[in-house]
Amino acid sequence: MPQNNGLNRRTFLRSAGMTAIAGAVGTGTTLRTVTASAAAAAPNGKFDFDTPYNRIGSDSVKWDQALRQNGMDSIVAGMGIADMDFKCAPAITEALTKRIQHENWGYLDMPKSFVDGIVAWNKRRYGLDVNPEAVVVTTGVHPGIIAALRTFCPPGSKVLLNTPTYNGFYGDLTASQTKPEENLMKEVDGRYQIDFEDFERRISQDTNAFILCNPQNPTGNAWSAEDLMRLGEICLRRRVIVLADEIHCDFVTKGTKYTPFASLPNKAVVNNSITFKAASKSFGLAAMKCAWFFSDNMDLVNRVKANNRADLTTLGMIASKAAYSGGEDWLNQCVEYIDGNHDFVQKFVKANMPMVKVGAKPQGTYLTWLDVSQVADRIGAKQLAADAAKSATPAAARGARPPSPESMVLRWFAKNAKVALNAGDTYGLGGANHMRMNIATSRKTLEAALNSMANALNDLKKGSTAAL
Ligand SMILES: Cc1ncc(COP(=O)(O)O)c(C=O)c1O
Repeated sequence: MPQNNGLNRRTFLRSAGMTAIAGAVGTGTTLRTVTASAAAAAPNGKFDFDTPYNRIGSDSVKWDQALRQNGMDSIVAGMGIADMDFKCAPAITEALTKRIQHENWGYLDMPKSFVDGIVAWNKRRYGLDVNPEAVVVTTGVHPGIIAALRTFCPPGSKVLLNTPTYNGFYGDLTASQTKPEENLMKEVDGRYQIDFEDFERRISQDTNAFILCNPQNPTGNAWSAEDLMRLGEICLRRRVIVLADEIHCDFVTKGTKYTPFASLPNKAVVNNSITFKAASKSFGLAAMKCAWFFSDNMDLVNRVKANNRADLTTLGMIASKAAYSGGEDWLNQCVEYIDGNHDFVQKFVKANMPMVKVGAKPQGTYLTWLDVSQVADRIGAKQLAADAAKSATPAAARGARPPSPESMVLRWFAKNAKVALNAGDTYGLGGANHMRMNIATSRKTLEAALNSMANALNDLKKGSTAAL
């Protein structure tokens, strides 16, 4: 039986919506269901982020695919792809449950209330005025960015990125037949900084767009108004359009403010940009396939719209609308909980994983960027990657990324700690010797994952871990 069928599908479906076991789960594990806890907050207004919510058997990328792709027979935690392990906001479940009672799923006419909800949310939460006429729906931030790249960037032209950056952008460049122009960030005292001189130097005749990631995946920077202005002014002067991906905007840690690119004081800078957003990252709705973009510049909006062949899905629309209208308390508590997770990771790694370096506490996102150079050296990751490349059959190698030292570290943690991470080399220049870890999970799961990683590293020091 395949590993991700450790939880029988029917059992899962019967158990969906109920809290489940914590800790290591693997092949043959069945859900120990606890009474279906009411979806609502407790009487004290607190939502439950502490009880681990078992996703195994739901065909999740983060857990089920991690088990399958890494050849794991059991898993302590899937800490890869950027979605959250929490049960979603009750307002979302309520709205979806209500809509499901009407058993017809024909084409959907976008209700005005959907865009009104987006506009109200941006005004209330970030003080941002979004013109409802300028909101265009996409099936995801990726399809929106691809439509923009196809609009402004001829095949073969260059797209600026601050690296290390979200690996998904490289797929968007492939889809639009454009090429990355990588502006490597500098790390100063554990915090990444943009090298503005290098950024400008990299702009040439065939550079038409810059993909900004704010807050930055994977480094956790929430860019200041000054940084954004500097980038925006360079781009305006050099005729490069800013594609601002702000999907992570709700996750900022205490003491940090998210500055929307569209809120910058220079109107011309803002008019040279398009912002891409969704409720999906904030509320755990990634597979609902609903996102949107907007700009103060209707010319840019209309040009991208022409290349954006997107339909709205009923459930995506209902879920996003409900999130914005009834999910804010849940989100505020979620953001606070994740802030606590960041503190926990910082303390834990510094105290218990001498072979791993963690930078300054991230200002945003629910991601941690780990320097695993010493682990890579210790396990001989370079040699392992070279050996793996030699032994890969042509069929296996076709279309796959060649084995990298980082993918060997990933495999090492999967095998020895039963924890699945993301390999840093996929995040472009500057990603070597790093792993990305997603910490949007219950504290218990996070603690179990970190303990398991620390134990594996201690065993490595003693020379008693399994070879790959
Ligand atoms: C910065 C960033 N942009 C876009 C996406 C994906 O967006 P979507 O699923 O809406 O296409 C992700 C997902 O991790 C992301 O981190």
